[in-house]
Amino acid sequence: MKELEERIRRDGIVEDGDVLKVDSFLNHQMDVELFRAMGREWARLFAGERINKILTIEASGIGIACVAALEFGVPVVFAKKSRTRNITGDVYHVQVPSFTHGGVSDVIVSKRFLLPTDRLLLIDDFLANGAALEGLTDLAEQAGATVVGAGIAVEKAFQPGGERVRAKGVRVESLARIKSMASGQIEFC
Ligand code: G4P
Repeated sequence: MKELEERIRRDGIVEDGDVLKVDSFLNHQMDVELFRAMGREWARLFAGERINKILTIEASGIGIACVAALEFGVPVVFAKKSRTRNITGDVYHVQVPSFTHGGVSDVIVSKRFLLPTDRLLLIDDFLANGAALEGLTDLAEQAGATVVGAGIAVEKAFQPGGERVRAKGVRVESLARIKSMASGQIEFC
């Protein structure tokens, strides 16, 4: 999506260790007009797929998912990173490792909000190593829900997540795919 690529070129900052800082428009200060254009693009790409719910994960996916949901006219469920060790039976639970921050998060969704009849669109801001997206597909699988596809804002295509998730048969639609950020120069696929 041209508009997102242009914004990344203009306001994105490449930091050490292959991290793209987009906190002026995507995951700290949020440009909701841009989110609306992103939501429209996913709605166009997934038209006719009878998506009835969007599933995302704390924290940065939530804002993007909510604006996109207005385009689809569906509710949003966000998977929560649980702070309690006492995880009860009324939730679906998955452990998501973070490659960038280290450690593992317990991620949960109430069984009340994911149903076998659901046709889900998964949404997240970044696709890097794919751990978050794999966690969401795992939660959907536990519920017996159908994953129609995943809408990603920024895919770092030089990291293995996109390939891994697509190899599992998930349709991934990333609005900006970065081929390389070597020496601070952003190159799109
Ligand atoms: P994954 O997102 O593909 O699972 O990969 P990874 O485990 O490497 O990512 C860990 C966290 O870092 C994720 O957020 C992810 O969105 C974020 N991330 C990965 N690469 C970049 C990047 O280049 N720039 C920015 N700004 N973030 C990146 P999180 O910690 O799980 O959640 P949250 O930040 O949404 O709260």
